[in-house]
Amino acid sequence: MKKILVTGGAGYIGSHTVVELIHSGYGVVVVDNLSNSCEESLNRVEKITGQKVKFYKADIRNKAAMDRIFTENKIDWVIHFAGLKAVGESCSMPVEYYDNNLNGTLVLLQSMREHGCKKIVFSSSATVYGDPEVLPLTETCKTGGTTNPYGTSKYFQEIMLTDVYKADREWTVVLLRYFNPVGAHESGLIGEDPKGIPNNLTPYISKVAIGELKELGVFGNDYPTPDGTGVRDYIHVVDLAKGHVAAIDKIQNNGVYTYNLGTGVGYSVFDVLHAFEKACGHAIPYVIKPRRPGDIAECYADASKAKNELGWEAKLGIDEMCASSWKWQTMNPSGYMKN
Ligand code: NAD
Ligand code: UFG
Repeated sequence: MKKILVTGGAGYIGSHTVVELIHSGYGVVVVDNLSNSCEESLNRVEKITGQKVKFYKADIRNKAAMDRIFTENKIDWVIHFAGLKAVGESCSMPVEYYDNNLNGTLVLLQSMREHGCKKIVFSSSATVYGDPEVLPLTETCKTGGTTNPYGTSKYFQEIMLTDVYKADREWTVVLLRYFNPVGAHESGLIGEDPKGIPNNLTPYISKVAIGELKELGVFGNDYPTPDGTGVRDYIHVVDLAKGHVAAIDKIQNNGVYTYNLGTGVGYSVFDVLHAFEKACGHAIPYVIKPRRPGDIAECYADASKAKNELGWEAKLGIDEMCASSWKWQTMNPSGYMKN
Protein backbone atom coordinates (compact mmCIF):
# COMPACT_ATOMS: atom_id res chain seq x y z
CA MET A 1 0.00 0.00 0.00
CA LYS A 2 1.42 3.39 -1.02
CA LYS A 3 1.78 5.82 1.86
CA ILE A 4 1.02 9.52 1.50
CA LEU A 5 2.16 12.24 3.91
CA VAL A 6 -0.47 14.97 3.94
CA THR A 7 0.83 18.25 5.35
CA GLY A 8 -2.02 20.47 6.57
CA GLY A 9 -4.25 17.40 6.49
CA ALA A 10 -6.49 18.61 9.35
CA GLY A 11 -7.52 21.67 7.30
CA TYR A 12 -10.41 22.19 4.91
CA ILE A 13 -9.07 20.76 1.64
CA GLY A 14 -6.64 18.43 3.42
CA SER A 15 -9.33 16.62 5.43
CA HIS A 16 -11.47 16.03 2.31
CA THR A 17 -8.40 14.75 0.47
CA VAL A 18 -7.52 12.36 3.30
CA VAL A 19 -11.03 10.85 2.97
CA GLU A 20 -10.62 10.34 -0.79
CA LEU A 21 -7.11 8.90 -0.38
CA ILE A 22 -8.35 6.35 2.15
CA HIS A 23 -11.34 5.48 -0.06
CA SER A 24 -8.86 4.85 -2.89
CA GLY A 25 -6.76 2.48 -0.80
CA TYR A 26 -3.82 4.71 0.14
CA GLY A 27 -2.20 4.76 3.57
CA VAL A 28 -2.21 8.26 5.06
CA VAL A 29 -0.04 10.10 7.59
CA VAL A 30 -1.04 13.65 8.53
CA VAL A 31 1.17 16.43 9.89
CA ASP A 32 -0.47 19.68 10.98
CA ASN A 33 0.33 22.30 13.62
CA LEU A 34 -3.41 22.99 14.03
CA SER A 35 -2.83 26.74 13.59
CA ASN A 36 -5.96 26.97 11.46
CA SER A 37 -7.73 23.70 12.23
CA CYS A 38 -8.43 21.22 15.01
CA GLU A 39 -7.97 17.51 15.55
CA GLU A 40 -11.73 17.00 15.56
CA SER A 41 -11.67 17.17 11.74
CA LEU A 42 -9.53 14.03 11.74
CA ASN A 43 -11.90 12.30 14.19
CA ARG A 44 -14.63 13.05 11.66
CA VAL A 45 -12.51 11.65 8.84
CA GLU A 46 -12.22 8.46 10.89
CA LYS A 47 -16.01 8.39 11.26
CA ILE A 48 -16.50 8.72 7.51
CA THR A 49 -13.85 6.19 6.50
CA GLY A 50 -13.91 3.79 9.44
CA GLN A 51 -10.12 4.01 9.58
CA LYS A 52 -7.71 5.49 12.07
CA VAL A 53 -5.56 8.33 10.71
CA LYS A 54 -1.96 8.52 11.90
CA PHE A 55 -1.47 12.10 13.07
CA TYR A 56 1.60 14.14 14.06
CA LYS A 57 0.92 17.51 15.64
CA ALA A 58 3.97 19.42 14.42
CA ASP A 59 5.05 22.46 12.51
CA ILE A 60 6.54 21.63 9.13
CA ARG A 61 9.29 24.21 9.81
CA ASN A 62 10.51 21.94 12.61
CA LYS A 63 13.17 19.88 10.84
CA ALA A 64 13.62 17.37 13.68
CA ALA A 65 9.89 16.69 13.76
CA MET A 66 9.76 16.25 9.98
CA ASP A 67 12.78 13.92 10.05
CA ARG A 68 11.07 11.83 12.72
CA ILE A 69 7.97 11.46 10.54
CA PHE A 70 10.02 10.30 7.53
CA THR A 71 12.05 7.94 9.72
CA GLU A 72 8.99 6.35 11.30
CA ASN A 73 7.01 6.05 8.06
CA LYS A 74 8.05 4.94 4.59
CA ILE A 75 6.47 7.80 2.61
CA ASP A 76 5.92 7.45 -1.16
CA TRP A 77 4.33 10.84 -1.91
CA VAL A 78 3.81 14.10 -0.06
CA ILE A 79 0.70 16.20 -0.64
CA HIS A 80 1.61 19.63 0.64
CA PHE A 81 -1.34 21.71 1.88
CA ALA A 82 0.23 23.28 4.99
CA GLY A 83 0.39 27.04 4.75
CA LEU A 84 -1.29 30.30 5.63
CA LYS A 85 -3.91 31.41 3.13
CA ALA A 86 -5.73 34.64 4.03
CA VAL A 87 -5.05 37.25 1.36
CA GLY A 88 -5.88 40.30 3.54
CA GLU A 89 -3.93 39.02 6.54
CA SER A 90 -0.90 38.36 4.33
CA CYS A 91 -0.75 42.06 3.45
CA SER A 92 -0.47 43.05 7.12
CA MET A 93 1.75 40.09 8.14
CA PRO A 94 4.10 39.51 5.18
CA VAL A 95 6.97 38.26 7.34
CA GLU A 96 4.80 35.62 9.01
CA TYR A 97 3.38 34.55 5.64
CA TYR A 98 6.73 34.25 3.88
CA ASP A 99 8.22 32.51 6.92
CA ASN A 100 5.43 29.96 7.21
CA ASN A 101 4.88 29.29 3.51
CA LEU A 102 8.41 29.52 2.13
CA ASN A 103 10.42 28.23 5.09
CA GLY A 104 7.82 25.52 5.64
CA THR A 105 8.26 24.27 2.09
CA LEU A 106 12.06 24.50 2.28
CA VAL A 107 12.29 22.45 5.47
CA LEU A 108 9.86 19.92 4.03
CA LEU A 109 11.96 19.60 0.86
CA GLN A 110 15.18 19.19 2.87
CA SER A 111 13.65 16.43 4.93
CA MET A 112 12.14 14.72 1.88
CA ARG A 113 15.49 14.77 0.07
CA GLU A 114 17.36 13.36 3.04
CA HIS A 115 14.89 10.51 3.32
CA GLY A 116 14.78 9.73 -0.40
CA CYS A 117 11.16 10.79 -0.91
CA LYS A 118 11.10 12.87 -4.11
CA LYS A 119 7.44 13.02 -5.11
CA ILE A 120 5.35 16.02 -4.14
CA VAL A 121 1.93 17.42 -5.00
CA PHE A 122 1.71 21.11 -4.16
CA SER A 123 -1.41 23.21 -3.40
CA SER A 124 -1.03 26.12 -5.72
CA SER A 125 -3.69 28.60 -6.69
CA ALA A 126 -5.24 30.44 -9.60
CA THR A 127 -3.90 33.49 -7.83
CA VAL A 128 -0.50 32.85 -9.51
CA TYR A 129 -2.02 34.08 -12.78
CA GLY A 130 -2.56 37.57 -11.30
CA ASP A 131 -5.13 39.59 -13.27
CA PRO A 132 -5.86 37.33 -16.27
CA GLU A 133 -5.02 38.67 -19.72
CA VAL A 134 -7.13 36.00 -21.44
CA LEU A 135 -9.91 33.69 -20.29
CA PRO A 136 -10.26 30.82 -19.77
CA LEU A 137 -6.89 30.41 -18.10
CA THR A 138 -4.69 27.64 -19.44
CA GLU A 139 -1.61 26.35 -17.65
CA THR A 140 0.62 28.15 -20.16
CA CYS A 141 -0.79 31.58 -19.29
CA LYS A 142 1.68 34.00 -17.77
CA THR A 143 2.22 33.69 -14.01
CA GLY A 144 3.52 36.26 -11.55
CA GLY A 145 2.22 39.79 -11.19
CA THR A 146 0.68 38.68 -7.90
CA THR A 147 -0.73 41.46 -5.76
CA ASN A 148 -0.34 40.18 -2.19
CA PRO A 149 2.24 38.23 -0.14
CA TYR A 150 0.01 35.14 -0.03
CA GLY A 151 -0.20 34.99 -3.83
CA THR A 152 3.46 35.82 -4.19
CA SER A 153 4.38 33.01 -1.78
CA LYS A 154 2.47 30.55 -4.01
CA TYR A 155 4.28 31.88 -7.07
CA PHE A 156 7.67 31.59 -5.34
CA GLN A 157 6.91 28.08 -4.14
CA GLU A 158 6.11 26.99 -7.69
CA ILE A 159 9.51 28.34 -8.79
CA MET A 160 11.32 26.70 -5.85
CA LEU A 161 9.77 23.33 -6.63
CA THR A 162 10.55 23.64 -10.33
CA ASP A 163 14.19 24.46 -9.53
CA VAL A 164 14.42 21.41 -7.30
CA TYR A 165 13.46 19.25 -10.28
CA LYS A 166 15.86 21.08 -12.60
CA ALA A 167 18.72 20.26 -10.23
CA ASP A 168 17.71 16.63 -9.65
CA ARG A 169 15.68 14.86 -12.32
CA GLU A 170 14.65 12.14 -9.87
CA TRP A 171 11.94 14.45 -8.52
CA THR A 172 8.27 14.42 -9.45
CA VAL A 173 6.61 17.77 -8.81
CA VAL A 174 2.89 18.29 -9.38
CA LEU A 175 1.62 21.87 -9.17
CA LEU A 176 -2.16 21.91 -8.77
CA ARG A 177 -3.65 25.35 -9.29
CA TYR A 178 -6.96 25.42 -7.48
CA PHE A 179 -9.67 27.81 -8.51
CA ASN A 180 -12.29 28.56 -5.80
CA PRO A 181 -12.86 25.53 -3.56
CA VAL A 182 -16.27 25.47 -1.88
CA GLY A 183 -18.76 22.99 -0.42
CA ALA A 184 -18.37 20.16 2.03
CA HIS A 185 -18.45 16.37 2.29
CA GLU A 186 -21.90 14.88 1.62
CA SER A 187 -21.99 13.40 5.15
CA GLY A 188 -22.04 16.92 6.63
CA LEU A 189 -19.27 15.76 9.00
CA ILE A 190 -16.38 17.76 7.54
CA GLY A 191 -16.38 21.20 5.94
CA GLU A 192 -14.86 24.65 6.00
CA ASP A 193 -14.56 26.08 9.52
CA PRO A 194 -13.14 29.60 9.22
CA LYS A 195 -12.10 31.42 12.39
CA GLY A 196 -13.91 34.74 12.99
CA ILE A 197 -15.77 36.56 10.26
CA PRO A 198 -15.24 34.74 6.96
CA ASN A 199 -13.38 36.47 4.11
CA ASN A 200 -14.61 34.19 1.36
CA LEU A 201 -17.96 34.27 -0.35
CA THR A 202 -19.65 30.95 0.45
CA PRO A 203 -18.70 30.77 4.16
CA TYR A 204 -19.97 34.33 4.51
CA ILE A 205 -23.27 33.55 2.75
CA SER A 206 -23.62 30.48 4.97
CA LYS A 207 -23.36 32.59 8.13
CA VAL A 208 -25.94 35.05 6.81
CA ALA A 209 -28.25 32.20 5.83
CA ILE A 210 -28.13 30.75 9.35
CA GLY A 211 -28.69 34.18 10.91
CA GLU A 212 -25.25 34.66 12.46
CA LEU A 213 -24.41 37.61 10.21
CA LYS A 214 -26.89 40.26 9.09
CA GLU A 215 -26.36 40.51 5.35
CA LEU A 216 -23.91 39.71 2.58
CA GLY A 217 -21.85 42.62 1.29
CA VAL A 218 -21.59 42.21 -2.50
CA PHE A 219 -18.21 43.71 -3.37
CA GLY A 220 -19.01 45.68 -6.50
CA ASN A 221 -21.79 45.46 -9.11
CA ASP A 222 -20.04 47.49 -11.77
CA TYR A 223 -17.57 44.93 -13.14
CA PRO A 224 -17.64 44.19 -16.87
CA THR A 225 -19.45 40.88 -16.23
CA PRO A 226 -23.02 39.81 -17.19
CA ASP A 227 -24.59 41.02 -13.91
CA GLY A 228 -21.80 43.37 -12.81
CA THR A 229 -20.55 41.19 -9.93
CA GLY A 230 -17.28 39.22 -9.80
CA VAL A 231 -17.14 35.89 -11.63
CA ARG A 232 -15.19 32.89 -10.31
CA ASP A 233 -14.73 29.22 -11.08
CA TYR A 234 -16.12 27.55 -7.95
CA ILE A 235 -15.13 23.91 -7.53
CA HIS A 236 -16.61 21.40 -5.09
CA VAL A 237 -13.99 20.46 -2.50
CA VAL A 238 -14.70 16.74 -3.00
CA ASP A 239 -14.00 17.04 -6.74
CA LEU A 240 -10.83 18.94 -5.85
CA ALA A 241 -9.80 16.23 -3.38
CA LYS A 242 -10.30 13.59 -6.09
CA GLY A 243 -8.01 15.61 -8.37
CA HIS A 244 -5.16 14.90 -5.95
CA VAL A 245 -5.86 11.18 -5.99
CA ALA A 246 -5.99 11.25 -9.81
CA ALA A 247 -2.57 12.92 -9.93
CA ILE A 248 -1.00 10.31 -7.64
CA ASP A 249 -2.72 7.43 -9.44
CA LYS A 250 -1.71 8.58 -12.87
CA ILE A 251 1.70 10.25 -12.78
CA GLN A 252 4.46 7.68 -13.15
CA ASN A 253 7.38 9.60 -14.63
CA ASN A 254 9.61 12.19 -13.03
CA GLY A 255 9.11 15.80 -14.10
CA VAL A 256 7.16 18.95 -13.32
CA TYR A 257 3.43 18.74 -14.04
CA THR A 258 1.05 21.69 -13.78
CA TYR A 259 -2.74 21.43 -13.79
CA ASN A 260 -5.64 23.79 -13.30
CA LEU A 261 -8.26 22.26 -11.04
CA GLY A 262 -11.52 24.03 -11.77
CA THR A 263 -14.82 23.32 -13.52
CA GLY A 264 -14.28 25.68 -16.45
CA VAL A 265 -17.54 27.46 -15.59
CA GLY A 266 -17.72 30.94 -14.11
CA TYR A 267 -20.45 31.97 -11.67
CA SER A 268 -21.17 35.49 -10.46
CA VAL A 269 -21.71 36.51 -6.84
CA PHE A 270 -25.45 36.72 -7.56
CA ASP A 271 -25.45 33.23 -9.17
CA VAL A 272 -23.91 31.81 -5.98
CA LEU A 273 -26.27 33.79 -3.75
CA HIS A 274 -29.33 32.51 -5.63
CA ALA A 275 -28.06 28.91 -5.64
CA PHE A 276 -27.57 29.18 -1.88
CA GLU A 277 -31.07 30.58 -1.43
CA LYS A 278 -32.36 27.51 -3.25
CA ALA A 279 -30.33 25.26 -0.96
CA CYS A 280 -31.44 26.84 2.31
CA GLY A 281 -35.01 27.57 1.21
CA HIS A 282 -35.18 31.26 2.06
CA ALA A 283 -34.05 34.66 0.81
CA ILE A 284 -30.59 35.86 1.89
CA PRO A 285 -30.26 39.61 2.53
CA TYR A 286 -27.47 41.52 0.79
CA VAL A 287 -26.23 45.05 0.17
CA ILE A 288 -24.04 46.33 -2.64
CA LYS A 289 -20.68 47.56 -1.35
CA PRO A 290 -17.67 49.09 -3.09
CA ARG A 291 -15.24 46.81 -4.90
CA ARG A 292 -12.80 44.98 -2.61
CA PRO A 293 -9.23 46.19 -3.23
CA GLY A 294 -7.17 43.65 -5.18
CA ASP A 295 -10.20 41.79 -6.61
CA ILE A 296 -10.33 40.95 -10.29
CA ALA A 297 -13.49 40.91 -12.44
CA GLU A 298 -13.37 37.39 -13.76
CA CYS A 299 -11.38 34.21 -13.32
CA TYR A 300 -12.13 30.75 -14.65
CA ALA A 301 -10.14 27.77 -15.81
CA ASP A 302 -9.60 25.84 -18.94
CA ALA A 303 -9.63 22.50 -17.14
CA SER A 304 -9.04 20.32 -20.20
CA LYS A 305 -5.40 19.45 -19.46
CA ALA A 306 -6.31 17.66 -16.21
CA LYS A 307 -9.12 15.84 -18.05
CA ASN A 308 -6.88 14.73 -20.92
CA GLU A 309 -3.83 13.76 -18.89
CA LEU A 310 -5.21 12.71 -15.49
CA GLY A 311 -8.64 11.49 -16.57
CA TRP A 312 -10.10 13.80 -13.92
CA GLU A 313 -12.88 16.31 -14.25
CA ALA A 314 -15.15 18.07 -11.80
CA LYS A 315 -18.56 16.40 -11.60
CA LEU A 316 -20.47 18.46 -9.05
CA GLY A 317 -22.22 21.72 -9.90
CA ILE A 318 -23.13 24.90 -8.05
CA ASP A 319 -26.32 23.37 -6.56
CA GLU A 320 -24.38 20.50 -4.96
CA MET A 321 -21.74 22.96 -3.73
CA CYS A 322 -24.33 25.11 -1.97
CA ALA A 323 -26.45 22.21 -0.69
CA SER A 324 -23.42 20.53 0.90
CA SER A 325 -22.22 23.81 2.46
CA TRP A 326 -25.68 24.30 3.94
CA LYS A 327 -25.79 20.74 5.29
CA TRP A 328 -22.39 21.24 6.96
CA GLN A 329 -23.49 24.61 8.35
CA THR A 330 -26.76 23.31 9.81
CA MET A 331 -25.22 20.14 11.25
CA ASN A 332 -22.32 22.13 12.77
CA PRO A 333 -23.63 25.64 13.49
CA SER A 334 -20.44 26.56 15.35
CA GLY A 335 -18.02 24.51 13.31
CA TYR A 336 -16.06 21.65 14.87
CA MET A 337 -15.77 22.89 18.40
CA LYS A 338 -19.25 23.18 19.84
CA ASN A 339 -21.56 20.42 18.69
P1 NAD B 1 -6.63 25.43 5.82
O1 NAD B 1 -6.12 26.59 6.58
O2 NAD B 1 -7.95 24.88 6.20
O3 NAD B 1 -5.55 24.25 5.82
C1 NAD B 1 -4.18 24.48 5.95
C2 NAD B 1 -3.69 23.62 7.11
O4 NAD B 1 -2.28 23.77 7.25
C3 NAD B 1 -4.33 24.01 8.44
O5 NAD B 1 -4.86 22.84 9.05
C4 NAD B 1 -3.18 24.60 9.26
O6 NAD B 1 -3.32 24.34 10.64
C5 NAD B 1 -1.99 23.89 8.65
N1 NAD B 1 -0.72 24.62 8.73
C6 NAD B 1 -0.46 25.91 8.40
N2 NAD B 1 0.84 26.20 8.60
C7 NAD B 1 1.42 25.06 9.05
C8 NAD B 1 2.74 24.72 9.43
N3 NAD B 1 3.74 25.61 9.39
N4 NAD B 1 2.98 23.45 9.85
C9 NAD B 1 2.00 22.55 9.91
N5 NAD B 1 0.73 22.81 9.57
C10 NAD B 1 0.44 24.05 9.14
O7 NAD B 1 -6.63 25.86 4.27
P2 NAD B 1 -7.22 25.10 3.00
O8 NAD B 1 -8.29 25.95 2.42
O9 NAD B 1 -7.48 23.68 3.32
O10 NAD B 1 -5.98 25.24 2.02
C11 NAD B 1 -5.01 24.22 1.88
C12 NAD B 1 -3.95 24.67 0.90
O11 NAD B 1 -4.58 25.00 -0.35
C13 NAD B 1 -3.20 25.93 1.35
O12 NAD B 1 -1.85 25.81 0.97
C14 NAD B 1 -3.88 27.02 0.55
O13 NAD B 1 -3.03 28.11 0.32
C15 NAD B 1 -4.19 26.29 -0.76
N6 NAD B 1 -5.29 26.92 -1.50
C16 NAD B 1 -6.48 27.15 -0.88
C17 NAD B 1 -7.51 27.79 -1.58
C18 NAD B 1 -8.82 28.08 -0.89
O14 NAD B 1 -9.56 28.95 -1.39
N7 NAD B 1 -9.18 27.40 0.19
C19 NAD B 1 -7.32 28.18 -2.92
C20 NAD B 1 -6.09 27.91 -3.53
C21 NAD B 1 -5.08 27.28 -2.81
N1 UFG C 1 -17.26 38.46 -2.44
C1 UFG C 1 -18.30 39.29 -2.06
N2 UFG C 1 -18.57 39.40 -0.73
C2 UFG C 1 -17.90 38.72 0.23
C3 UFG C 1 -16.84 37.88 -0.17
C4 UFG C 1 -16.54 37.78 -1.52
O1 UFG C 1 -18.95 39.92 -2.91
O2 UFG C 1 -18.21 38.89 1.43
C5 UFG C 1 -16.95 38.30 -3.88
C6 UFG C 1 -15.55 38.74 -4.26
O3 UFG C 1 -15.53 40.12 -4.55
C7 UFG C 1 -15.28 37.85 -5.47
C8 UFG C 1 -16.04 36.56 -5.16
O4 UFG C 1 -17.02 36.94 -4.19
O5 UFG C 1 -15.85 38.42 -6.64
C9 UFG C 1 -15.17 35.46 -4.59
O6 UFG C 1 -14.43 35.96 -3.47
P1 UFG C 1 -13.65 34.99 -2.46
O7 UFG C 1 -13.07 35.84 -1.40
O8 UFG C 1 -14.53 33.87 -2.05
O9 UFG C 1 -12.53 34.34 -3.37
P2 UFG C 1 -11.35 35.01 -4.24
O10 UFG C 1 -11.63 34.69 -5.67
O11 UFG C 1 -11.17 36.42 -3.90
O12 UFG C 1 -10.07 34.23 -3.72
C10 UFG C 1 -10.04 32.82 -3.47
C11 UFG C 1 -9.10 32.55 -2.29
C12 UFG C 1 -7.69 32.85 -2.72
C13 UFG C 1 -7.34 32.10 -3.95
C14 UFG C 1 -8.33 32.40 -5.05
C15 UFG C 1 -8.05 31.60 -6.29
O13 UFG C 1 -9.44 33.34 -1.17
O14 UFG C 1 -6.82 32.43 -1.70
O15 UFG C 1 -9.65 32.12 -4.58
O16 UFG C 1 -7.93 30.26 -5.97
F1 UFG C 1 -6.11 32.45 -4.37
